[in-house]
Amino acid sequence: MTELHPEPLTARVMGTPVDRVDGIEKVTGLASYAAEQRVPTTTGPLWCWLATSTVARGRVVGVDRTAALAHPGVAAVVDHENAPRLAETSNGELAILQDDRVHFRGQIVALVLAETPEAAREGARLLRIEQDEEPFDAELREDNATYRPEKVNPAKETDTEQGDVDAAIAASDIVVEQTYRTAYEHNNPLEPHATTAWWSEEDGRETLTMYDASQGVHGVVAALAPMLGLEKDQVRVMAPYVGGGFGSKGEAHAHVMAAALAARTTAGRPVRVVMTRQQMFALAGYRTATISHFRLAAGRDGRLTAIEHRAQEQTARVKEFAEQTASPTRMMYAATNRRTSHRLAVLDVAVPSWMRAPGEMPGMFAHEVAMDELAETCGLDPIELRRRNEPLSDPETDLPFDTRRLLECFDRGAARFGWDARPPEPRATRDGEWWVGTGVAAATYPAMRMPGNVARVETLENGCVAVSIGAVDIGTGARTVLTQIAADALGVGPDDIDLRIADTALPMATVAGGSSGTSSWGSAIVAAAQELKAAHGDVLTPGLRAEASAVRGDEAEQFSFHSFGAVFAEVRVHRDTGELRVPRLLGVYNVGRVINPTTARSQFLGGLVMGLSAALFEESVRDPRFGHVVTQDLATYHVASHADVLGVEAEWLEDETPLFTPMGSRGIGEIGIVGTSAAIVNAAHHATGVRVRQIPMTADMFC
Ligand code: MOS
Repeated sequence: MTELHPEPLTARVMGTPVDRVDGIEKVTGLASYAAEQRVPTTTGPLWCWLATSTVARGRVVGVDRTAALAHPGVAAVVDHENAPRLAETSNGELAILQDDRVHFRGQIVALVLAETPEAAREGARLLRIEQDEEPFDAELREDNATYRPEKVNPAKETDTEQGDVDAAIAASDIVVEQTYRTAYEHNNPLEPHATTAWWSEEDGRETLTMYDASQGVHGVVAALAPMLGLEKDQVRVMAPYVGGGFGSKGEAHAHVMAAALAARTTAGRPVRVVMTRQQMFALAGYRTATISHFRLAAGRDGRLTAIEHRAQEQTARVKEFAEQTASPTRMMYAATNRRTSHRLAVLDVAVPSWMRAPGEMPGMFAHEVAMDELAETCGLDPIELRRRNEPLSDPETDLPFDTRRLLECFDRGAARFGWDARPPEPRATRDGEWWVGTGVAAATYPAMRMPGNVARVETLENGCVAVSIGAVDIGTGARTVLTQIAADALGVGPDDIDLRIADTALPMATVAGGSSGTSSWGSAIVAAAQELKAAHGDVLTPGLRAEASAVRGDEAEQFSFHSFGAVFAEVRVHRDTGELRVPRLLGVYNVGRVINPTTARSQFLGGLVMGLSAALFEESVRDPRFGHVVTQDLATYHVASHADVLGVEAEWLEDETPLFTPMGSRGIGEIGIVGTSAAIVNAAHHATGVRVRQIPMTADMFC
C-alpha cells in the first residue's frame, strides 16, 4: 500500500449528470437493505425484539421470563443475567446487558428471540421486568447546563476567547443581546435501523458477520470488535444499501450490539433486529435542544466589534456527546473580540448524537437571527450587513480561506429571488389575508477530509476496472459519484468501472458523515488510480493492481477550508390564524466543484427541506417527569410533508478547489440545512414584525 499526494484531476465525467448507477435496483426493489438480506440458514433468522426500560434511572431487579418462554414462537430471552459478557465496557451506550443499571428510559434491558417478529414482540410483552426507580434529572435548563466538556464534537475546543469582549461591548454603540433556542430533534430516515448478525467459525477462529444499516461499516467493526474481545478481522460488516441516516447511522448504536450478543447465543443461527420507529426515539441518537446566548456589538455602520456565543445543551450521563453549537461563530464574521463556550446539562436521558450538521445547524440558526436583529437595529439591509462583516481571513485561525465566495452567493441569490424589490420595513406587504415577507441567512460548513482511507484498483479480464473501498452510499449518490471520480482518474468511461463498496472486507473507509465521504474516499480512489498509472503506464491491460491512500500536503496548515451559502426564504403568515407557509426557498452555494449536478441538487434540496422542517415542525417533546420523548412517531413528531414543501430551488457557483481534493470538490451533504431555519424565521419577522427566537416557529407565536 502506497501513500501519495494525488495530482488534481481533469474533469470529464465529473461535472456531468450521470444517472444513479444503482437507480434500477432502487426503483425495482432489487436493492436489499439490512433487514432483507438473505442469510446462511435454512430456517431463516431468529427475530430479536428489544425490550426497553420504563424508568429513567434505576436498576432491573428481576426479569420473569416464564410467560415469554411459554409462548410457542419464543426461542430465548437474553437479559443482564445470562447475556454474553463483553471484554470491554467503556462505551456506556454499547455496553448493554452487562449489569442491572438503567441509565435512561428506553434503554435495552432484555432481548426476546423468536421465530417471527410478531412472536418476538409478543414475547417481550409477556416479560415481567421489575425495575427500581431512582431520582433522576431529565430536564435541560439554563441553571443545570453547567458542565464543561473537555472537547466538543468531534475534537474542537470547548471555549475560545479572542480580544476583550466585555470592553468592546461596553464601548459599543449598538448591542444585540438575545437568547435563541432550538428544539430536540430526532433523525427519521425512511429505513429504520436494522442489523442481521451471525457467528461462524473459520479456520478455528470465531467470526461475526453483520448486515447493518450503517453510514460507516469500518467504524462499526472498530467499535464492536474490542468490546467483543475480537480482532478487527474477526468481524465483517456490510451495508450494501442504506435508506438514509442523517447521522443516526453514523455510529453503531446499542441495537447493533444487541444483535451481536443475541447471535452469540444461537449456535450460529442468524439473528435479525429491526428497530421500530418508536424505538428510534430512544436508541438512535438525536439532536440536543440548544440554548444560545448571543451578544453582538457593532458600530452604527453595522461593523461588528464583538461576538459572544455561549451555548447550553445536554448530554447523557451514560455517554458524552457535546454538540459543537458555537463552532461556526468562531469563523463566520470579522470581529476582533470574540468569545464562545459550550456547557452541558448531564442528564439521565438517551444518548444524543449526530444529526445533519450537528453544531452548525442550531448555532447558525442563532447567529443568523441575531445578525438579522442587528441589521434591523442598524437600519441596514441584511445582505449589506453581511458584506460589511466579511472577514479577509478565517477569524478563528487567521489563515486565508482557499475560497470564500459567500458574497457572490448572496448577490446571485438576490438577483434570482428579486431581493431588490423588498421593502426594508417589516409588516409592509399584505396579500389578502396573508402577511408576506422575505428573509435571508448565511450558511457555512467546514470542509473535512478524513485520513486513513485506502482504495484498491484492479484491471479485470473483461476490460473493466474494479475499484474497491469500504465506503457506504446511504442514498446520497456516493456510488455514482465515486464511479465518476474513478472514471476520470483512470481515463475510462463510467461503464468501465466496477465499483465495490460497503463491506469491511474491502479497504478502509471512514464514515459517510461530516460531509466528508466523497472528499475522503474519492481522494483515495484518485491516489490508487494514479499509483496504478505510475507503475504501469496509461495502457490498462488485465491483471494490474494498485492500492493507495491519499495524503495531503501542507495546504491544510496554510488555508482554511469551508463551504458557504446564502439562503433566501419567502414566508406568508395568515393574518387571523398565524398559519405559516413558505412558498419560496432558494439556496445558492459555493462548495467547490459539483461532481454530479443531479445528486448534488438532491442533497441541497434535502437539506433545505430539512431546514424548513426544523423551522416549522420538528420537535421531540421530552417529558421531564418521566425522562422520555413523548412524540415517538411520525404522527406526533411532525416532519415537513409534500404539501409543506412548495418552491424549493438550489444552485451553486461554478468553482473548483484543487487545494482541498484532487477532484476539486468539497462536501455537500450538510450545508443545505444550515441557515435555512434562520432565513425562514427572519422572513416571518419581515412579514409580521414579530421576532421569533426559537424553532420550531408555530402559528400561536403570531396571533
Ligand atoms: Mo452527518 S450528521 O455527519 O451524518
